[in-house]
Amino acid sequence: MLPLLLILLVCLSLQTSESASSGSFIHCLLNHSQPSHPISSAIYTTNNGSYSSVLQSYIRNLRFNTTETRKPFLILTALHESHIQAAIVCAQKHNLQMKIRSGGHDYEGVSYVAEVPFFILDMFNLRSIHVDLKSETAWVQAGATLGEVYYRIFEKSKTHGFPAGVCPTVGVGGHFSGGGYGNMMRKYGLSVDNIIDAQIVDVHGRLLNRKSMGEDLFWAIRGGGGASFGVVVSYQIKLVRVPEIVTVFKVTKTLEQNATDIVYKWEQVANKLDENLFIRLILDVVNGTNKVKTGRATFIALFLGDSEQLLSVMKKSFPELGLQKSDCNETSWVQSVLFWTNFPLGTPNDVLLSRIPQVLTYFKRKSDYVKEPISKAGLELIWKKLIELEYVLLTFNPYGGRMGEIPAEAVPFPHRAGNLAKIQYAANWNVAGKNVTDYYIDLTRKLYKFMTPFVSKNPREAFFNYKDLDLGINHNGKASYKEGRVYGIKYFKANFDRLVKIKTKVDPGNFFRNEQSIPTLPN
Ligand SMILES: Cc1cc2nc3c(=O)[nH]c(=O)nc-3n(C[C@H](O)[C@H](O)[C@H](O)COP(=O)(O)OP(=O)(O)OC[C@H]3O[C@@H](n4cnc5c(N)ncnc54)[C@H](O)[C@@H]3O)c2cc1C
Ligand SMILES: *[C@@H]1O[C@H](CO)[C@@H](O)[C@H](O)[C@H]1NC(C)=O
Ligand SMILES: *[C@@H]1O[C@H](CO)[C@@H](O)[C@H](O)[C@H]1NC(C)=O
Ligand SMILES: *[C@@H]1O[C@H](CO)[C@@H](O)[C@H](O)[C@H]1NC(C)=O
Ligand SMILES: *[C@@H]1O[C@H](CO)[C@@H](O)[C@H](O)[C@H]1NC(C)=O
Ligand SMILES: *[C@@H]1O[C@H](CO)[C@@H](O)[C@H](O)[C@H]1NC(C)=O
Ligand SMILES: *[C@@H]1O[C@H](CO)[C@@H](O)[C@H](O)[C@H]1NC(C)=O
Ligand SMILES: *[C@@H]1O[C@H](CO)[C@@H](O)[C@H](O)[C@H]1NC(C)=O
Repeated sequence: MLPLLLILLVCLSLQTSESASSGSFIHCLLNHSQPSHPISSAIYTTNNGSYSSVLQSYIRNLRFNTTETRKPFLILTALHESHIQAAIVCAQKHNLQMKIRSGGHDYEGVSYVAEVPFFILDMFNLRSIHVDLKSETAWVQAGATLGEVYYRIFEKSKTHGFPAGVCPTVGVGGHFSGGGYGNMMRKYGLSVDNIIDAQIVDVHGRLLNRKSMGEDLFWAIRGGGGASFGVVVSYQIKLVRVPEIVTVFKVTKTLEQNATDIVYKWEQVANKLDENLFIRLILDVVNGTNKVKTGRATFIALFLGDSEQLLSVMKKSFPELGLQKSDCNETSWVQSVLFWTNFPLGTPNDVLLSRIPQVLTYFKRKSDYVKEPISKAGLELIWKKLIELEYVLLTFNPYGGRMGEIPAEAVPFPHRAGNLAKIQYAANWNVAGKNVTDYYIDLTRKLYKFMTPFVSKNPREAFFNYKDLDLGINHNGKASYKEGRVYGIKYFKANFDRLVKIKTKVDPGNFFRNEQSIPTLPN
């Protein structure tokens, strides 16, 4: 009885101290509010009727939409830069953990989940986009989605685009600050290779641009993850040229249709092809005829040119796929974005402005880099493993082209020359529950372990935007540097050391921290 009472008491006192600190935190926010931009209408406490819907609106992995998941004691939906400044100043004053959320697509929910009491600085209201065709640039706020960016460019020009991710609901804040790749990366590199200025609020609450933040910090927030360094308010991007007509295709081959031979050939050519051509490869398992499980390879492509040119490139470089004119669809660049995210061609372009994801699932992702083609014997083993596990699939995104030309230290993202492809492991499911969750997560871990001989080593590289807490977690205590180095080297290779130096300089108190943030140097 007594222990139970004690636990109750402890819980109660924790709760009251939490709400007490929440109360004085709110006072601080109100006190730091400018009369012209009242902060009160941006504050959602847990007893506000809209709190749950605001929280859930940008939960993009249902794994973190459970009653067991710790909820923030407050959500601040910033309406103005001054609200960000108030959040940073007051959170430090009250020693509170802040999480920053833009589009909420973090694979591990890092932008809206924490192990300790916390609040969310939610950026979705700050989403203006200004496209300037004359200079071929745009200013894009962190709360904008990629779909909004693509649409606003399309409104002004049919021959401009931007190299960023494939899913239109992904947020600019996390995507750009963590790297950002898409199907034009072989021609134009990553999103971060095309960023020319930024606005950030630093740990002192100062609103800085490229000039006032300096080249070190500007370097860090182009791939090193914004959340370790400050709150990114906006980025200025350099638009890229796209032809008026592009061509897309999607072709599948099962094992019975010689998928192994074709995949093997893809490995020889995918990173050496004409850089106008990007062919993604997905390996998964399907029920074949007579219900026998079989392997399937899906080839999805974007070609920056017309179908005649594409067919001639394919005939020369990759005839094994047997691509026919009837497999190809010529369309506009903006429509190709829809095709790639599984909307039928012809869907109105303004569907890109929708903030409601096409599907929401429970999921787990992991990543790897392939340096050398996997042998046919290796591919056979991988198919066998995929069929055994059944519900986990592999997506290969080819490198080469522009990706191989940009130096590994140009921005924090280090995976440049010498890569054949990046792999994404994916398991999706549709029901809650611990055993189901464990089952699917375990599938991805089993496959990841199995893939060890075929992928990069020392370090086994990983892509920061594909956040994977299996690579290590930071408790942000005394061992923070040591813990950070474990995942930091995988995500950033030699660039990790420079990120740590910059972090130590701009945020020595480690206010901007999370489960996989950049640590400060141990003193
Ligand atoms: C369906 C789906 C498709 C995807 N497709 C691609 C793809 O094609 N290419 C690709 O590269 N990646 C892709 N990703 C991964 C995606 O790029 C990352 O998850 C990215 O971090 C998401 O950004 P966000 O703003 O939506 O996420 P959030 O969850 O809001 O943020 C992610 C991280 O960035 C931090 N952060 C967010 N906003 C700010 C800010 N304003 N200032 C400082 N820190 C901030 C957060 O604190 C968190 O640590 C995809 C993810 C999903 C779920
Ligand atoms: C309000 O802010 C002022 C300075 O901006 C400070 O002196 C004062 O102590 C603050 N009051 C509270 C209650 O935080
Ligand atoms: C919830 O919070 C918002 C933002 O502060 C406010 O506008 C709204 O009136 C609040 N609703 C309730 C029921 O308290
Ligand atoms: C998230 O959880 C809440 C509360 O259980 C539920 O009402 C909501 O439908 C869930 N969201 C999704 C997209 O399933
Ligand atoms: C698969 O390859 C074999 C041998 O190269 C060939 O005879 C056969 O026609 C191919 N099958 C298909 C469906 O292309
Ligand atoms: C194959 O069919 C079975 C029975 O309908 C189903 O349970 C299973 O999920 C299917 N597998 C795949 C990979 O589609
Ligand atoms: C794509 O191209 C094929 C072959 O030319 C054509 O049959 C099909 O209708 C096109 N699809 C769409 C959605 O336009
Ligand atoms: C999870 O547990 C339930 C109930 O015990 C069971 O019916 C279900 O098969 C389990 N699912 C998995 C994937 O283990």
